[in-house]
This record gives sequence, structure tokens and C-alpha cells, in this order.
Amino acid sequence: MLQYLIIGCNGLIGRKLSSLCEKNGVSWIGTFNKRNETEGFCLDITSETDVRGFILERKPRYIVHCANLSGGANFCEKNRHEAEKFHLHATQFIGRAAKEIDATLVFYSSDYVFDGKKNSPYCENDEPNPLNYYGKIKVEAENWLKGTLEKYVILRTTNVYGWDPKTVTPNFLMGLYRKAQENTECAVPSYLWGNPTYAGDLAEIAVTLCEKEIHGLFHTVGDVNLNRYEWAKMILSKFNFTNELLAEQKKIQEKIEAPRPSAIILDNSLLKKVLNFNFKSIDEGLEICFAERISAS
Ligand SMILES: NC(=O)c1ccc[n+]([C@@H]2O[C@H](COP(=O)([O-])OP(=O)(O)OC[C@H]3O[C@@H](n4cnc5c(N)ncnc54)[C@H](OP(=O)(O)O)[C@@H]3O)[C@@H](O)[C@H]2O)c1
Repeated sequence: MLQYLIIGCNGLIGRKLSSLCEKNGVSWIGTFNKRNETEGFCLDITSETDVRGFILERKPRYIVHCANLSGGANFCEKNRHEAEKFHLHATQFIGRAAKEIDATLVFYSSDYVFDGKKNSPYCENDEPNPLNYYGKIKVEAENWLKGTLEKYVILRTTNVYGWDPKTVTPNFLMGLYRKAQENTECAVPSYLWGNPTYAGDLAEIAVTLCEKEIHGLFHTVGDVNLNRYEWAKMILSKFNFTNELLAEQKKIQEKIEAPRPSAIILDNSLLKKVLNFNFKSIDEGLEICFAERISAS
């Protein structure tokens, strides 16, 4: 029996999942959409017919949905219809097919489900109150999954990083690395805070929860909360760049962007307790990224 279907296998988290399945010797297949560059199948998750046909034919035991819409929260804010179709309706297509074959579905959600006004870390049972459309549509997808499926895993995360030279979506580490390599100035906000989360940890958590048949909603973020400017300095230092071209952005810029909380901290203690899991420290995660960069060159 096929164990894993990874939807979005050539994305940041998807690549980590496929490597982990390979390493663990478990059967898997993956899908991509526009970038036909890895082994896998082309599947557009916004077509219910295609999604259902694909899943019912292969009947995987676990489905990890890590497809993402390019452009992040800003794109969703300006393209609401497309965002709803992708983040909500397509998730429902996958969820309905998963239910038909009794598969577990893993879904990645976001810390943007919260407004950031709480003075202490957010727990899983805190009430969401998203400020932007991306957060709103993620909450709707979460609620649908919770109300429809028994075998679901929702992993709320943020600031995911990993070495992914082929990335086309906003990936903070790769964006900064490219700018540093091109000697281009890079303005980074110090007013935005978050917990950098190593993509490999998110893959490991998904696979471990699936294998232990543990379902539910978990906050899955790295342990350290820091602002993007400090985070950028750590990345540049690990990759042996200076900070000369790094500019601190202290205030929100004028251009229209999705409203976002300046700081949200997710409490990751439930997941740590349930799985006895240790998130990579920032230094450990960056060390792995650096080693991957070296081995690729
Ligand atoms: N990255 C973060 O910081 C972060 C933070 C919070 C939550 N998340 C969530 O984590 C999940 C994975 O994010 P990621 O950053 O790993 O993604 P990513 O690197 O942007 O990869 C996106 C993947 O989705 C695929 N895809 C795009 N459009 C598709 C479509 N219409 N049908 C099927 N596949 C499609 C892409 O395939 P092609 O490239 O071939 O088109 C690619 O494999 C998403 O749900 C995201 O919301 C991410």
C-alpha cells in the first residue's frame, strides 16, 4: 500500500518530506504544478475532478498537503477569489477524497490566524482572529477540516526556512541569500517578529504524527522569537556575508500590503510534549542549510 502522497513535493516543506520518506524507506509519490523538474506527477489542486481521480486511483494512507500559492499574504489580500479557491476549496477537494479512502490528511496552517494582541504565547485553543485574508481563509480551511474529517492533522507554523535554491515563493532565507550574493541592498523590518522554523522539523513532525496515528491541531514553530532584522543578521553571518548592505526598516512602509500583526508567538509546548520533540535551534537549522549549500556547489 502506498504510504505517502506529498502534494507540493517540490516546495520548501515538500522537498523535506520527500527526502525524509526516502531516508525512512517508506513508499511515497509527490505532485507538483508548474515546475516539472522533479520526479512526480503534475496535479492542479484547484480541479476537484483531477484531485479526486488522482487520490482514489493511488489510495495513499497519508496525504500531506503542502501546496502553496505564490505571493503569500499580500497576494491573497489582493486576489481574494483566487486565494479562497486555493486555500479553502482545494483543501476541501483533497479532504473529501481523503475521507473517501480513509486517509489521514496533514494541512499546514499559519500563525496569521491570530491578531497578535495577546500578551503571552497563543495556545491551540485560543480563539483565532485573523487580520488579513490569508489568515481568514486558513481559519476557514482549518474549521472545515475539523468539522468534516476525523483523521486530520493541522500544523500551524510561521517563518519557515530551509535551503531551497529553486524556490519561487517568498522564502526569507533564500531571498536574502540571493540579494547578498548579488551585492544588492536589502531592507528588512525590525518591527516584524516571529519564530523561525526549520522546514525539516515540519516534515519530521508530520511523518511522526501520521505514523503514531495522532490527529488534531498543533502549534509547530521554533523555540526562539526574534525580529526579522536580527534573523537576517544571523543568516548573513552563517553564510559568511557582512551586514553592510542590510538596512533596518523601522516602520511599516507606505505601500499597500496585507495587514499583519507585528508579533505573534505560538506556544509549541503541546506538540513537544505529545511527541517528545525538540525543535532545531536557529544555529542548528542554519548549519544544516549551510551544509546543503556547500554540498550543492
Ligand atoms: N513558508 C512559510 O513560511 C509558511 C508559513 C506558514 C504556513 N505555511 C504553509 O505551508 C504550506 C507549504 O508552504 P511552502 O512554503 O513549503 O510552499 P512553497 O515552497 O511555496 O511550495 C509550493 C508548492 O505548491 C505547489 N503548487 C502551487 N500551486 C499549485 C496548484 N494549483 N496545484 C498543486 N500544487 C500547486 C508548487 O508546485 P509548482 O512549484 O510546481 O507550481 C509547490 O510544490 C502552505 O500551506 C503554506 O501556507 C508556510
